[in-house]
Amino acid sequence: MKVVIVENYKEMSKKAADMIKETVKENPEAVLGLATGSTPEGLYNELIDMNKKGEVDFSNVTTVNLDEYIGLDGNNTQSYRYFMNNKLFDHINVNKERTFVPNGMAENIEEEGKNYDKKIDELGGIDVQILGIGVNGHIAFNEPDDVLTAGTHKTKLTKSTIEANSRFFDTIEEVPTEAITMGLGQILKSKKIILLVKGINKAEVVRELLQGVITTKNPSTMLNMHRDVTIIMEKEVYELIK
Ligand code: GLP
Repeated sequence: MKVVIVENYKEMSKKAADMIKETVKENPEAVLGLATGSTPEGLYNELIDMNKKGEVDFSNVTTVNLDEYIGLDGNNTQSYRYFMNNKLFDHINVNKERTFVPNGMAENIEEEGKNYDKKIDELGGIDVQILGIGVNGHIAFNEPDDVLTAGTHKTKLTKSTIEANSRFFDTIEEVPTEAITMGLGQILKSKKIILLVKGINKAEVVRELLQGVITTKNPSTMLNMHRDVTIIMEKEVYELIK
C-alpha cells in the first residue's frame, strides 16, 4: 500500500487527476471506476480542466460507477447518475453511452447486480478505481457488517451513513435507506485502486486500515488484500494517525 501525503485538498485532487491522465494516456480505451461523495469533486474539476485544455482525451474510455440509491432515477438531483452527469460527464468529451452507473430503479435489483458484474467482466475489468471512504469505513455502500458481499448487490444503509448523507437532502427522511453497490470482491478485482482520504473525521477508520487489520467491521480494511493501492491523504488527517 502506497501512502501519499498531500498538503491540501487541491493537491490531492491534482495528484489523482494526474494518475487518471497517465492511465488514459497509456490506454485510451481504459475502464475508469468512479465514485461519488464530496471527496472526488475536486478530482473531477481537475479532469474537466485537463480535458478542456486538450491534455487528456476521454472519447474512448468507459466509466463504471460504484453505487446508486435504490428508488432514485437518473433525473433525480440526489441520484448518483445525476451527480456524475452534473459534476463530470456533461463537461468532458466522454461518450455518455459508455458511462455506467447501477440502475437503482431496476425491478429486480439482484439481477441488475449480476448484469453489472458481467458487464465489468466483459469490459475486461476496471483499470483504475477511485474510492472515497465513509466515516464508518464504508467503501462504496459496503457498510460494516458480520459478512460482506463480493458482487454487486442490494444493501441497507446504516444510520451513520444516512445521517452523513442527509447533508445533501432537505430532510433526513428523504435519504434513501437502500442502495445497490459494487461489492468488495468486484472492487478488489480492479487493477489499480486510488483511495482519497479527505477530512479528519476519517482518521480513525484509516488508522485501522494502515495498521494492516482486515475486518468486515471496517470494510476499507479489505484494501489490505490488494496489491496496487495508493492512498492519497490530506496532511491534517495523517497528523492524527501517525
Ligand atoms: C457515500 C458514497 C461513498 C463515499 C462516501 C464518502 O456514502 N457511497 O462512495 O466514499 O459517501 O463521502 P464523502 O466523500 O462525501 O465523505
